[in-house]
Amino acid sequence: MIRLGSGYDDREREDPGMGTARKYAVIDPATGKLDRRIFSEQAIYDDEMEKIFGRAWLMIGHESLVPAADDFFHTYMGEDPVILTRDGQGRLHALLNMCRHRGNRVVRVDDGNAKRFMCTYHGWTYRNDGALEHVPGEAQAYYDALDRPSLGLIEARVETYAGIVFATWAKDAASLEAYLGDARWYLDTVFNRRDGGMQALGPMKWLEPVNWKTLVDNCSDNYHVPTSHLSSARVQTRYLGRPPLSHEDQFASPNRHAFVNGHSITFRDADDGVPRFVHGMSKETLWLFQEYHEATMPEVERRLGTVRARRVQLGNHSIFPNGILGLRLALPRGPLKTEFWHFVLLERDAPEEIKRAIRIGSQANNGAAGMFEQDDVDNWRQVTAASTSRLGRRHPQDLSMGLGHAGPHPDYPGLVSERYISENNQRLFYGRWEEFMNAESWAQIPLDPITARFDGTATMRG
Ligand code: FES
Ligand SMILES: [Fe+2]
Repeated sequence: MIRLGSGYDDREREDPGMGTARKYAVIDPATGKLDRRIFSEQAIYDDEMEKIFGRAWLMIGHESLVPAADDFFHTYMGEDPVILTRDGQGRLHALLNMCRHRGNRVVRVDDGNAKRFMCTYHGWTYRNDGALEHVPGEAQAYYDALDRPSLGLIEARVETYAGIVFATWAKDAASLEAYLGDARWYLDTVFNRRDGGMQALGPMKWLEPVNWKTLVDNCSDNYHVPTSHLSSARVQTRYLGRPPLSHEDQFASPNRHAFVNGHSITFRDADDGVPRFVHGMSKETLWLFQEYHEATMPEVERRLGTVRARRVQLGNHSIFPNGILGLRLALPRGPLKTEFWHFVLLERDAPEEIKRAIRIGSQANNGAAGMFEQDDVDNWRQVTAASTSRLGRRHPQDLSMGLGHAGPHPDYPGLVSERYISENNQRLFYGRWEEFMNAESWAQIPLDPITARFDGTATMRG
């Protein structure tokens, strides 16, 4: 039992359907106190691998990484190695990279094109849809008694959203559309703008000594920006012509946070004349982005409707549990280690100069050598390390900012904070974590109904 504070009992009363006693109560919704042990204890981490990564919809890649028939891309679901394949019919599969005989990996490379995967231990050979096609000595060694059809590679469910590939091990999980729910209303404003869709470049991969939750929680933390990123912001002001950033600006910002089904969203009430991109825009490239913005606005408006095309810009966000900052996978590698896979997503039909500017700009900010990233990583390391302190871990984190200042909004879906600076999304993220950790099955994991109006032609399929 991991139990903190008394607010937990209130939540239990609000949520009578659970029936059985909960095991985890780590965030006190009444005070915002968070138990630090969730960032370092091996037993909790092991439970996360089962209860969260074993059944949530997980971002695993992008369709553009496997564009042609028989392409494959090696990825992970939590710690489990998974081959994302496109079979000869163009269908996507997510296959556990484990030979059903003794368990060797059947793919040892990052990506490629292959109709079959042969295990290099004894030669069992699988088709790229997972079926076990050939076993050496099937007649002679196995006397034709091997139940070959039941020994295909273990396959996860796969669904896509605007080209982003998600997979889940849970047969009983709700659809990806229901899982994303109204969060898609916001996500579309970045991922679903153009008829031609997006393409993923990368990934850049590196390891950090951080717990995977520290950075997911950070996706809605705008409070840190003027402090942590002061030096990086000054460089941007001097060399890119960006306006300086102060606490006062952040506190007065009309931007907001929203929370849906575990997904944390930050967004701007955008000026419809200003280009939407963040990375790559500078004094030199602004005209390029401006031209592109104006040229594509009619298409974006047709796809997303007027409100979303002209007035909403998605900012930092996370898709529960570990998809962050556009297309980045935060792959858990133990309670105190996370492997980052950072992709750059580009609109496929954008001009080459724009793509180049975004690619360079993205790497300058995020990624192993990104200026902003290095500021952030230090924070995540420290937060993780604090949870290993024998004395420190007796004292909870304080996530009380903006308590009681969030609710439904007439114009925006989800639970919306009054201010841009708020810890509402953090409290709700850890609340969602509890829901997954305490649920016996998917039937006990609540999903908000889809209520947003999805104007325009964009769909889950792109
Ligand atoms: S472990 Fe793969 S064929 Fe034996
Ligand atoms: Fe940051």
